[in-house]
Amino acid sequence: MSGIAVSEWTTTEHALSYLSRADAIPHRTEGERVLLDHVSGTVRRILDLGTGDGRLLALLRIDRPESTGVGIDISDPMLARARERFVDDKRVELLHHDLAMPLPDVGTFDAIVSCFAIHHLEDERKRWLYGEVFARLEPGGVFANLEHVASPTERLHRRFYDALGFEPDWEEDASNRLVDVESQLGWLREVGFEDVDCYWKWLELALLLGLKPRP
Ligand SMILES: C[S@@+](CC[C@H](N)C(=O)[O-])C[C@H]1O[C@@H](n2cnc3c(N)ncnc32)[C@H](O)[C@@H]1O
Repeated sequence: MSGIAVSEWTTTEHALSYLSRADAIPHRTEGERVLLDHVSGTVRRILDLGTGDGRLLALLRIDRPESTGVGIDISDPMLARARERFVDDKRVELLHHDLAMPLPDVGTFDAIVSCFAIHHLEDERKRWLYGEVFARLEPGGVFANLEHVASPTERLHRRFYDALGFEPDWEEDASNRLVDVESQLGWLREVGFEDVDCYWKWLELALLLGLKPRP
């Protein structure tokens, strides 16, 4: 990941700009609902990659209060928001880490999730990360990545940003490294996931999911 891409997210301005829009992303809650449906109610350990202000971890823990969560992010302003959110919750640990680097040694998990974060990594790193995620999952564990993916055509790309309410002359987020759904499903299958599919999609928002096989 380039220095420019990372520094964007480490600024308070960029982080707060995203958070101010986060609730208004169309259809987002539909994707989150499907993700929640596919994470077992009995998971014990959850890892959230690019956790931001901890929104997805918090949603998961509503119906899984006994689970413990680890949230990873590179952005101090985002982590500060997450720390505020979980200030009274000792079951959530937040780590400053650059996902461009190998995952830190934080043990294994029953569910590894991510929301709108992995598309900020270079493609080669995305593929390695999927392998690291596979290795960190317990057998039967789920990887659920609600992601910003590439459109198949420029017209659909414009349609997506139009739906988000962006001006016609908007500039692509400098940290975006968007990849189409099919390629990413192939990468997940290559590292060993099963039942790999796109479980939900609206324009450039897609839920990519796979299970780690049991022996
Ligand atoms: C669009 S926000 C999504 C945040 C949160 N997951 C959500 O659903 O609202 C992208 C997040 O990815 C994080 N991020 C971007 N590049 C990263 C990197 N190289 N390592 C770790 N986190 C990164 C950003 O700091 C930011 O919190």
